[in-house]
Amino acid sequence: MSPTATDRRTTPVHRTTFALGEEVVPYTYGDRCTEELLALLADQLTGVDQVLLVHDAVAGDLARRVAEGLSAQVPVQSLACTAREELKTLSTVLALAEEAVAGGTTRGSVVVALGGGLVGNVAGMVAATLFRGLPLVHLPTTPVAAFDAVLSAKQGVNLAAGKNMVGTFWTPRSVWCDLDWLRGVDERQVLTGTAEMAKNVLAVVPEREDDLLTAVAGLGDERSDALVRLLQIGVDAKAPALRVDPHERREALVFEYGHTAGHAMELASRGALSHGEAVGWGMLVAAQVGRRLGHLDDAAVAAHARVLAPLGVRGEAPPALDRALVQRLLLRDNKRGYLPGSGPDVVPMVLLDGLGSALADDAGRPLVPVPTALVHEALDAVLGAA
Ligand SMILES: NC(=O)c1ccc[n+]([C@@H]2O[C@H](COP(=O)([O-])OP(=O)(O)OC[C@H]3O[C@@H](n4cnc5c(N)ncnc54)[C@H](O)[C@@H]3O)[C@@H](O)[C@H]2O)c1
Repeated sequence: MSPTATDRRTTPVHRTTFALGEEVVPYTYGDRCTEELLALLADQLTGVDQVLLVHDAVAGDLARRVAEGLSAQVPVQSLACTAREELKTLSTVLALAEEAVAGGTTRGSVVVALGGGLVGNVAGMVAATLFRGLPLVHLPTTPVAAFDAVLSAKQGVNLAAGKNMVGTFWTPRSVWCDLDWLRGVDERQVLTGTAEMAKNVLAVVPEREDDLLTAVAGLGDERSDALVRLLQIGVDAKAPALRVDPHERREALVFEYGHTAGHAMELASRGALSHGEAVGWGMLVAAQVGRRLGHLDDAAVAAHARVLAPLGVRGEAPPALDRALVQRLLLRDNKRGYLPGSGPDVVPMVLLDGLGSALADDAGRPLVPVPTALVHEALDAVLGAA
C-alpha cells in the first residue's frame, strides 16, 4: 500500500489506495502541494454542477483557497461547520442540508469535507442522506482525520446518550491531503493521531516500529517526513482489515486495541488526558492483561513501553485517576454489545497474543471476555496501587 519509490521520485504527490469492501478509494497526499492537489481534484469534477464545501469554521482561509482552486472547473458553495462534539448532531446535518439546497446543491453535486474527523463525519452524513446519497470527497486537516478517520466508511453524529450513535456507512469517493494543513493543529490533536499510529504498530504492523519512532522524533521538525510516515502507517495498517470488514464489526475491531481501559481513563480524567494519551495508557493495561493470561511475553510488553514512552506515556509517571470511577466506566464500554449476556464480571477486550497478532473468537472478532477482577489487577499494575 505504500507508494512506490518511483512515485516519490517523479511527483511531489504520493498516490495510494485503500479498499472498503469492494470499493477502492484513491488517497492522494503530499507535503506543501495544495495547488497541485486541487488541480488534480478539479480535473475529476467534470460534469458536476456544484461542489458543496463543508469546512471546519477554523479553516476559513484554507476553505477560500480550496474554493478558488476548484471554481474554474465548478461552482463552489462553502458552508462552515463548528467542530464541537455537542454540535455533532442530526440538527446540524439537517441545517447544513437545508442551507445546501437553498444555495443550489442538487443531485448532480459533490460534497467535499474539509476539516478534522468531526467535520468529516458531519459532511459524511450530509453526503449519505441528501438526495439519498451524493459523492463524498475528504480533505482532512487534522492528524486523526488524515491518518485514521478518513480511512473508514463510518459516518455518524452524537446522541445525548453517547458518541456516534446515529449514523450510516458511506464510502468516500476519494481523499486528498496536503500534510501542511495539519501543522496548525494543537499538540493534543497531534498526540492523539500519533498514539493511534502507535496502536497500529503494536496491534497490526510491528515491522513499522522504526518508522514510527523516526516519525515521532521528527514531529517538531517541519523539514522531516514525519507526517508522511505516520499517514503511511495508517493506510498500511488499516487497509487489509477494512478490505474484508468495511463495516468494522469483525477483523477491524482490532483498531479498538487499548480503547477499553483507555476510554474509561479518558472519561475519568475529565479532560486531563487527551484521547491519545488515554489510549496509550489503555494499551499498557491491555498488555498487562495479556501477560497475566500468558498470551504476551516480557519482550512484547517491553515493546509497548518503547513505543509509548516518546509519546509521554511512561509507566513510571502514571496519571492520578479516581480508580473506582475508572472501574465503573469500564463496564460501560461499547464493545459489550458484541458479547451478549456478558455481565459485570466480564470486560470484552481486544488482546494480543503477540505483536501484530490479535486473539480472535470463532466469528473472526478480535474480542476476548476478560474477568473484570483481572482488568482491575492490570489497572493497578499500570497506575500503581490505589
Ligand atoms: N469515522 C471514523 O471512523 C472516525 C474515526 C476517528 C474519529 N472519528 C471522529 O472524529 C472526531 C475526532 O477527530 P479530530 O481529532 O480530527 O477532531 P475535530 O474534528 O474535532 O478537530 C479537532 C480540533 O482541531 C480543529 N482543527 C481542525 N483542522 C484544523 C487545522 N487545520 N488547524 C487548526 N485547527 C484545526 C477543530 O476545529 C477542532 O477544534 C470525533 O468526532 C470522532 O468521533 C471518526
